Amino acid sequence: MLSDASPDEDGAEVPPGRPRPSGDRVALRGDLRSALPDATAAVVVTALVFVFLWARMESGASDTVAIMPFMDDAGTYWMYLLSQAFGWSGLLWAWCTVMFGLLLSGTGHTRLPLSRQVLERWHRTTSLTTMALMFAHALMFAAELVRYETKLGWAERLWVGFADSFVPGWYDSGTGRIAIPIGQGALYLAVPLGLLFYVRHRIGAKTWRRLHRFVIVVYVLSVWHTLLYGTNVWYGEWPRTVLWLLQIPVAALLLLRLVRPARRAERLGPPKGGAGAARPAWWERAGGRAVAGAVVVGLVVVVVSGRDGGRDRPTDPPATAPHTQETE
Ligand code: HEM
Repeated sequence: MLSDASPDEDGAEVPPGRPRPSGDRVALRGDLRSALPDATAAVVVTALVFVFLWARMESGASDTVAIMPFMDDAGTYWMYLLSQAFGWSGLLWAWCTVMFGLLLSGTGHTRLPLSRQVLERWHRTTSLTTMALMFAHALMFAAELVRYETKLGWAERLWVGFADSFVPGWYDSGTGRIAIPIGQGALYLAVPLGLLFYVRHRIGAKTWRRLHRFVIVVYVLSVWHTLLYGTNVWYGEWPRTVLWLLQIPVAALLLLRLVRPARRAERLGPPKGGAGAARPAWWERAGGRAVAGAVVVGLVVVVVSGRDGGRDRPTDPPATAPHTQETE
């Protein structure tokens, strides 16, 4: 029997009289569906990190407890551990999505045994998963604050948890006064910059490309927030070194992307006329390449010298801690 319904761009049947969804909405729906395996992998990674952090807390090897001794009870502080685990999977997924994006916008992907379409799909799905992981990280921190504030009424507990985690400038203790707004900046920029892709037909491809470039700021803020606040990378030891080390391929790929962009129009060429850009744009591009080169050199110096901003492990409980919470 013939049906009145017609297939939309995704192949799904659209009942008569119902407005046909826009291409943007169809693309988002399709990507959300494709992101399912990716998100499942992210949940598995988060669970593994959670178990690892829990085991370290139980064995007495946790740096979080070394810095905040009142947290020496994994059963009570499991939401805090889960928040940390989501933070790490979020950062790992952010690393992957930025690497895929840089490979796509430069010429690096041409040497990989992967088609451009596959890389593009991975870039889009990992970016959606990253946003969800970042949000889950902040949400579990808020949940832990709600659980912790037992002396307050429910409305106040919910407000404190929400405001301390999501309202920039509200959290007012220790390093968190700077580190939390940096994390919030990353989260709040990631969502619009990531989702703009799905309205690029409306805003124009050129505007989308210009804005999408700022996604690198999200990544830099995420790493900065972690280096500043992560208690598991608090001391100047190997976990912190690995975190710095992982930034070298990102900076190197950024440099490569700037030096050898996929788009001909972005190549440097000689200033003014010919294939080159007008003088101000030329200086801007040349400056970008110089900064990326300096970042690569700076990262190598940090890793080799070991001067990575990590604190020395004290013999006594530390005088400075990220939070000023006391034992319940
Ligand atoms: C609303 C935004 C955010 C809030 C409220 C927040 C909160 C926190 C807090 C309280 C910590 C300290 C945990 C510890 O003791 O180690 C932390 C660490 C961390 N955050 Fe965030 N964060 C936010 C955004 C982000 C974003 C966007 C990322 C990027 C993926 C991120 C990744 C991390 C990582 C990897 C750690 C280290 C965890 C550890 O040391 O085990 N955070 N964050």
